[in-house]
Amino acid sequence: MVGAGYVGIPTAVTLSHFGYSVIVAERDLSRLGELRAGRSPIREEGLDELLAEGIAAGLLTFTDNATEAAADADVVFLCVATPQGNGGEADITYIIDAATSISAALRPGSIVVNKSTVPVGTAARVQVALGRDDVFVVSNPEFLREGTAVHDSLHAERIVAGSDDPRHAEIVVQLFADTGAAVVITDTASAETIKYAANAFLATKLSFMNAMAAFCEEVGADVRDVRLGMGHDHRIGMDFLNPGPGWGGSCLPKDTAALLYMSQINNFDFPLLAGAIETNERQLARMVSKIEEAAGGLDGRTIAAWGLTFKANTDDRRSSPAIDIVQRLAARGAIVQAYDPTVAPGQVYADLDGVSVMSSPRDAARGAHCLAILTEWSEFSLVDLADIYSQMEHAAIVDCRNLLSAATVREAGFSYQGVGIR
Ligand SMILES: NC(=O)c1ccc[n+]([C@@H]2O[C@H](COP(=O)([O-])OP(=O)(O)OC[C@H]3O[C@@H](n4cnc5c(N)ncnc54)[C@H](O)[C@@H]3O)[C@@H](O)[C@H]2O)c1
Repeated sequence: MVGAGYVGIPTAVTLSHFGYSVIVAERDLSRLGELRAGRSPIREEGLDELLAEGIAAGLLTFTDNATEAAADADVVFLCVATPQGNGGEADITYIIDAATSISAALRPGSIVVNKSTVPVGTAARVQVALGRDDVFVVSNPEFLREGTAVHDSLHAERIVAGSDDPRHAEIVVQLFADTGAAVVITDTASAETIKYAANAFLATKLSFMNAMAAFCEEVGADVRDVRLGMGHDHRIGMDFLNPGPGWGGSCLPKDTAALLYMSQINNFDFPLLAGAIETNERQLARMVSKIEEAAGGLDGRTIAAWGLTFKANTDDRRSSPAIDIVQRLAARGAIVQAYDPTVAPGQVYADLDGVSVMSSPRDAARGAHCLAILTEWSEFSLVDLADIYSQMEHAAIVDCRNLLSAATVREAGFSYQGVGIR
């Protein structure tokens, strides 16, 4: 396993749980040190237990060297980051670097798997980087969700494997037989497309619902009831119909941008996808406007921000809508006091420049002109509202996650604004 991140670690412990011998290469020495000590460097339920199980069984070992990890492997998974490049494209530098570094060490007949999300055509580029015709490349995109990554790996809904030779895809699929997942074996271009199609569809669904929420506000409807009425139709389904501050996280923004980029370079006009991205930008701006209105301005106003991660039950803040919003607030002159259960106060964070990190929801609320709920951590729905009221300068709540009950919050004396609700 090359790359011990949000995908590499859950995949490694899943395979060791299934009885395979897994050697994980991670070049970030801090992450590596945590793993060697049996601790997960990322927050995911169930990960520490499976790490301990794999290490105790002698099936899970770690190294800082991808070449060493690849030398004895029948299958090498590349699970390195593919961040957004300057033009919107996916940057596959880490993938190509990893492939180049393992090339000479690979056993003849071994399989290199692109588990990272990579643009169409990357399998062929990895094959070129490997520079060998006796090792084979399979595209095996990952669909786990942060926050439930271990569960999603152990009980995957589907395993997609794409290869020029189905026998190689079949070998990868077999590794995950114990998941009981549906199997989709395809050519490489289709496998590479599937991941982008899935994420772009989910982003579009969310943008549609965020736009419907704004529509509901205009006409006096309640988007939560609209969701129920829509979601009971099995063709639509309940999932991904909750409006919010705008979608984010380490995947949807970069993957929609990469798909749009691939469309453009292939001269394919994709206004639906461009519209989903544009709608998301408007949603983020809409949240800032709501907070500005509730606080009576932004410049010099104190805003309490509850939640910084892109969703609850993860410590991941990459492309978090909460981070986007607090940065916009700070840029407009607001004094931002943020609290998140995964962010410790008293440290410097590159993405939190100009934001004060507080040690409790109560501390964040102190002297605030508006409280913005940006991540749906369940602890925020358990706070003593009367106590929070006593801390604030101006009792206004903008609930970007529709986490609280509007009636309860208003009874406690606050003004309340949700997303798409009266
Ligand atoms: N995070 C998710 O929820 C998720 C879900 C599905 C797919 N993906 C995709 O999976 C890929 C990985 O995402 P992630 O969130 O796990 O990234 P991440 O940044 O958390 O982890 C990548 C790790 O790879 C390490 N690394 C990079 N090059 C290396 C090398 N040559 N040798 C050893 N280690 C190396 C980095 O130090 C880092 O720890 C991306 O393409 C992403 O789009 C992510």
